[in-house]
Amino acid sequence: MHEAALIVESTDLSPQERYRAVLAAADSLIPPGTERIAAMANLASLLYHSLPALNWCGFYRLVGERLIVGPFQGKPACVEIPIGRGICGRAAARRQTVIVRDVTSEPDHIACDPASRSEIVVPLLEGDTLVGVLDLDSPSVGRFSEDDAYWLGQITCKMLENSQS
Ligand code: SME
Repeated sequence: MHEAALIVESTDLSPQERYRAVLAAADSLIPPGTERIAAMANLASLLYHSLPALNWCGFYRLVGERLIVGPFQGKPACVEIPIGRGICGRAAARRQTVIVRDVTSEPDHIACDPASRSEIVVPLLEGDTLVGVLDLDSPSVGRFSEDDAYWLGQITCKMLENSQS
């Protein structure tokens, strides 16, 4: 395992300290010029192994008018999501982070893993261009907060800045 990722896993950190460490590890794991899908693969793994109470973490990439599953950690997921459908498609259409406290009360939610209870989806924007979304699922109701939205936004910006397709 890369040394930067090991530090995040092995230390007892507050949520903010953990996110700071993840941001630093992402910068180290994804040096400038990294190929985009390789960057997504390492970031999906880093987040999945660094953040508590996740059962799925990964990317959907915008290909034409659809979101297509990209690098992820967790159980196999649906391959395509039209823009505007599901929580991923909602975040993509609005170009805003969406937090769902309890997915069982969201008729629009697309259930890939029945264990999922809450979800956060962060759009990936390069300037004005939508390139995809980051999706995190948790087996706990109410797992994600505005703090998660803030830090995941910072971390995905770093990944986009350091990588190219
Ligand atoms: N729940 C998502 C679908 C993707 S899976 O969670 C991996 C949604 O409603 O868009």
